[in-house]
Amino acid sequence: MSDTIVIFGASGDLTSRKLIPALYQLHRKGRLKKPVRIVGFSRSKFSHDEWRTSLAESTAEFAGEHFDAERWETFAQQIYYHPGDISQADDFSSLSRFLDEIEGSEPSGRVYYLSTAPRFYEQAIEQLGRAGLAEEGESFRRIIIEKPFGTDLASAKELNRCVHQVFSEHQVYRIDHYLGKETVQNLLVLRFGNSIFEPIWNRNYIDHVQITVAEAVDVGSRAGYYDTAGVVRDMVQNHLLQLLMVTAMESPVRYEADAIRNEKVKVLDAIQSLQLEDVGSDTFRGQYRGYTSSDGVEPTSHTATFAALKLGIDNWRWQGVPFYLRSGKAMSCRTTQIVIQFHAPPHKLFADSPRDLGEANRLVIQVQPAEGIQLHFQTKVPDAEMRMRQTDLSFNYQREFRGAMPEAYERLLLDALEGDASLFARADEVEAAWRICDPILQAWQQNDRPTLYMYDPGFWGPDECREWMLAQGREWFDNCPVLG
Ligand code: BG6
Repeated sequence: MSDTIVIFGASGDLTSRKLIPALYQLHRKGRLKKPVRIVGFSRSKFSHDEWRTSLAESTAEFAGEHFDAERWETFAQQIYYHPGDISQADDFSSLSRFLDEIEGSEPSGRVYYLSTAPRFYEQAIEQLGRAGLAEEGESFRRIIIEKPFGTDLASAKELNRCVHQVFSEHQVYRIDHYLGKETVQNLLVLRFGNSIFEPIWNRNYIDHVQITVAEAVDVGSRAGYYDTAGVVRDMVQNHLLQLLMVTAMESPVRYEADAIRNEKVKVLDAIQSLQLEDVGSDTFRGQYRGYTSSDGVEPTSHTATFAALKLGIDNWRWQGVPFYLRSGKAMSCRTTQIVIQFHAPPHKLFADSPRDLGEANRLVIQVQPAEGIQLHFQTKVPDAEMRMRQTDLSFNYQREFRGAMPEAYERLLLDALEGDASLFARADEVEAAWRICDPILQAWQQNDRPTLYMYDPGFWGPDECREWMLAQGREWFDNCPVLG
């Protein structure tokens, strides 16, 4: 028994940077339960050997010290290339024949990975359907669809409709690589594998939650794409809302795909959609200076490279607890963190008791790159007088477990091969996420409120965003994690 992964858009960046290195690591670590063949499909004309050679080079680069030429050779024997054009039905028929040929008579499961430009998704799905490649007999047929899944609610619905004409929902794996990150999965363990956090994980103890995904890099060579997307489509609709769902969801009744996804979707359903008039006050946008001189960006572009949103979740657990989401390019440093900000103590027993929230208890989940968790609390400074200072209990993955963290794609590819969709988005989940983002995108396009503030690269976004938070009696927890 064996399986086959067919990658559409095989000559693209994602394949060489992420997919092949992740599959190689799974092979090297002995994690693949069955042999897996990899078939690349794209318009470039490579022979099998030419593609293998180019992948050997890129994998050596991205897998770094774990690259072992001998292991690679065994792995590479299972790599094939089939040139083809997504618009040509004949190329799908020949792909189908090629797959039958290399799989031989034994039944093989197949995963089709859409890693092409998103505008080709629908066509690729239709062609797979027409060529009979989606039909499950003895063996599974699954499809992995990369983000972005649509550009708004209407296009996401249309894409779901097209997908469901060919594949049933149980065959569909919509990927958001943030869910493959160790620290994001650990959030479920932190919350539901321990007994001390859940009782205080609610409005009675928590003042607000901050979710920040800051990147030091600017839009670089992706400026053309980015200018049509902006930060809400690129980061908020997917990665940030996924982090929010995992932070806010109720405990699923079982650790299985639908039970988990039911709870996640309930969170999105409980989010109050922003009305046009709220968008001006509850959202914030910025653009880094120099963005409009990037190649591929209109000089007058109003695309936001920074966003902050205040969302409310209307349920018993979270009523009145704002969730602040913030993301930006060209910021101080690369950091993804979730800050659970607890209330200040109700009674100020000590003269030095925390007066503001910044001094109150805080749980900081460092998603990346200094993966870990810190709990901040007040401690008496040893001295004859009563003075307090904030100190912390700190858990750090490197210190505790050593070794490199596995790449998100390793876990996700393995799950898709094994048929576990827990860490993939369901159709209703992506639509619910767009339902939250659509009014923001529309309002930003139609109005000049909120103002598009400019910021200098290398800081925490526009200064005005700090003031926006201060005006709400809160402060951003701006912290570049210490690596090493
Ligand atoms: C991608 C976005 O989905 O995520 C990029 O399109 C962004 O703009 C990237 O840089 C961030 O991923 P990570 O894993 O580096 O945090």
